[in-house]
Amino acid sequence: MHIVGARPNFMKAAAVWRVLADLGLDQVIVHTGQHYDPNMSDVFFEQLGMPRPEVNLEVGSGTHAQQTALIMMRFEEVVRDRPTDLVMVYGDVNSTVAAALVCAKLGVPVAHVEAGLRSFDRTMPEEINRLLTDQLADLLFTPSEDGNRNLAREGVHASKIYLVGNVMIDTLVRLLDKARPPSSIDSDGEFALVTLHRPSNVDDAETLRRIFATFEALSKSLRIIFPVHPRTRKRMHDLGLRARDPNRFQLLEPIGYLEFLALQRRARVVITDSGGIQEETTFLGIPCLTLRDNTERPVTVELGTNELIGRDMNLLCTSVQKILAGQWKKGRIPPLWDGHASERIADVILAWGV
Ligand code: UD1
Repeated sequence: MHIVGARPNFMKAAAVWRVLADLGLDQVIVHTGQHYDPNMSDVFFEQLGMPRPEVNLEVGSGTHAQQTALIMMRFEEVVRDRPTDLVMVYGDVNSTVAAALVCAKLGVPVAHVEAGLRSFDRTMPEEINRLLTDQLADLLFTPSEDGNRNLAREGVHASKIYLVGNVMIDTLVRLLDKARPPSSIDSDGEFALVTLHRPSNVDDAETLRRIFATFEALSKSLRIIFPVHPRTRKRMHDLGLRARDPNRFQLLEPIGYLEFLALQRRARVVITDSGGIQEETTFLGIPCLTLRDNTERPVTVELGTNELIGRDMNLLCTSVQKILAGQWKKGRIPPLWDGHASERIADVILAWGV
């Protein structure tokens, strides 16, 4: 049984679902409903070639406690009703920890895909979700060596940990040829691709205003394309933030997986606070500037094309200039980010006894 809830879960679950389907295993997809807008959820199932979820818990938005509690209450009934050999949870969103906690209490085995990542910043809700999920899981699949080290340090027994690589890259490798830019925008010429949704960047009015003003200034020399997350759109609307020149600073609704992948590939630079995009740009060799003080994906900085910018808007501007001048590191693809991570997961699961 695969648990998905928020946008970054879908491309990971799709990769594992596909390999297990080829092996003929009975699978159920449960959507918690954490993300519910069609362009945050439905479009991904279509594009990723994954069946619609059989169950949707329809929990929607709320405070962290409300969202987590509602998922737990509704999910408990689902697992009780269906004898399940293994529940797969993905990443670090509220749906991940809520499902893992329900399973642990019911004695249903749980596998965590993307285990072991740590930002060491407990003000991030995702860090709490990662720490707890990894304590609860029976099988832990890590994307990189640092994940194994973090888990060992936290006392997770080595027999539960498997370094398999990055399942999100499996989906990227499979669909790269199908990637196409959104028809609504001109994707020729140079541009920066921007995403922003972390509470630490968008919830504080002053911070968001300062970031937005920097994008306005940057857009005079490099066109900006910015698909806006619903959370960010609400905050921008409340603060009356609008692009002065919509041809240079293009604000879009959230876009599908294939459209976003095509834009990443063509971008001169990607500016983001996402986790997954740090990884995708590293794989694609596109410079990435991350608007955070830390990352749970250090391999993208050590080996890849990513640099941490924090909220230092001067550093953001000088880094963009460096990239435009062709002075950015080239980066390397981390080990096991090869499109076959899900197959390694399937091998472990079969040997484990599903
Ligand atoms: C969640 C994840 C985050 C992940 C992100 C990807 C947690 C703690 N956070 O953050 O790790 O990077 O998804 O997008 O699980 N909203 C809509 N429509 C939707 C979904 C959300 O309008 O379909 C709005 C609502 O106002 C909601 C807000 O966005 O309150 C935040 O949604 P939520 O699921 O709480 O967290 P994200 O910020 O999306």
